[in-house]
Amino acid sequence: MMPRNVLVVGSGGREHALVWALSRIPGLKVYCAPGNPGTETLARNVPIAATDIPGLLAFARQEKIDVTIVGPEAPLVAGIADAFSTEGLPVIGPVRKAALLEGSKAFAKRFMAESGIPTAPYGIFGRDERKKAHRFLRSFAPPYVLKADGLAAGKGVLITDSLSEADALLDRMLSGELFGEAGSQVVIERFLQGREASLFALVHGTAYLLLAPAEDHKRLGEGDTGPNTGGMGAYAPTPFLSSEVLEVVRTRILEPTLEGMVSRGTPYRGFLYISLMLTEEGPYVIEYNCRLGDPEAQVVLPLWRNPELMLEDRWERPYEQISGYAACVVLASAGYPGAYETGIPIEGLDAVPPDVLVFHAGTRRDEFGRLLTAGGRVLGITGMGDTLEEALRRAYAGVDAVQFEGMYYRRDIGRKAIGALSTP
Ligand code: AMP
Ligand code: GLY
Repeated sequence: MMPRNVLVVGSGGREHALVWALSRIPGLKVYCAPGNPGTETLARNVPIAATDIPGLLAFARQEKIDVTIVGPEAPLVAGIADAFSTEGLPVIGPVRKAALLEGSKAFAKRFMAESGIPTAPYGIFGRDERKKAHRFLRSFAPPYVLKADGLAAGKGVLITDSLSEADALLDRMLSGELFGEAGSQVVIERFLQGREASLFALVHGTAYLLLAPAEDHKRLGEGDTGPNTGGMGAYAPTPFLSSEVLEVVRTRILEPTLEGMVSRGTPYRGFLYISLMLTEEGPYVIEYNCRLGDPEAQVVLPLWRNPELMLEDRWERPYEQISGYAACVVLASAGYPGAYETGIPIEGLDAVPPDVLVFHAGTRRDEFGRLLTAGGRVLGITGMGDTLEEALRRAYAGVDAVQFEGMYYRRDIGRKAIGALSTP
């Protein structure tokens, strides 16, 4: 039976895109906790924080929520799916032990090694293994890659060409100075050369639906320069993941991952995000995440023709994709990913062309109902089209309509893919 009451947990662009996808399914009542001014237009926002597991549980019981979809990693790693499942409440998202694929990089690396899944060669070192860690670092050529084991709000990966800097960073991680407890174990791994792709599957045990593969743009600056961000834009499907490579990813990476989780007694349920490096020797896993990516969700969900499959337990129909492309440009606050101001009025949303999707990521309304900035990534503007150029043209037409003081965005989202698509 189709569920009627659906709760989406989270408050960013990904959750707005989830609510938007659900709003196209007839007969649903959608709630979003805590949501944002974008989700408010399509769902009922509920003022409960995404990490308030007891609060969310009480709400789900009271409102007879049939399915809860968890957007961000923090509540999943903290065990929201365990708490809901124990009460018999269906939830789309992995239990804590399966969310460790994202929650612990050391766990993920050991899991991949044991399951024969291609990933960069690595070592794992704890606080009392500094000497060994420094020695191990010297077994690699630069650039050096250091990763905090635990969740570090997307900032836990450090890459440097300088050995002395790597040594210093390693000490600051292991001392707890840089990432606190999350850095009490450090993964040191070989730098992989290649192009990155984001692959998403909706998983139920060993069954899965593969969504459109996407490419994120992590760096702040045009031409992939400057600091890493949460993602400045994305498009899908990426031409860099050919059907041959995708087949390798399915059989050598995705399926062994799902089987490995089942054989550990922690079958995976929910969205699985595999971050891939497409190297000359084939695809490697950079990392797993236990959720949809953001901004990737803002292109992957609009391309999903039958998102009602999200709410089904057993898939009798295949995933269907809308033909063509989706492209999303993120509008960020001046200063992001460093310090930035909030509370700046946002203008022009009503002038965005009707065929362009606007997803709210970091916005709020003041007491007069005016829309203000409230985060580093403020809005995601998604265009769709038969070609990637058309999707980008629509997205940038939407961008041109919006203004807020200090608004920053990249003008080159998807540009390399256009180059690749037009070369025979
Ligand atoms: P993460 O936070 O794990 O997504 O890592 C941030 C970024 O670091 C990734 O998107 C990659 O660009 C880069 N990265 C992580 N691990 C490696 C690696 N072994 N080789 C090259 N780049 C990497
Ligand atoms: N866009 C990268 C992430 O969601 O982690």
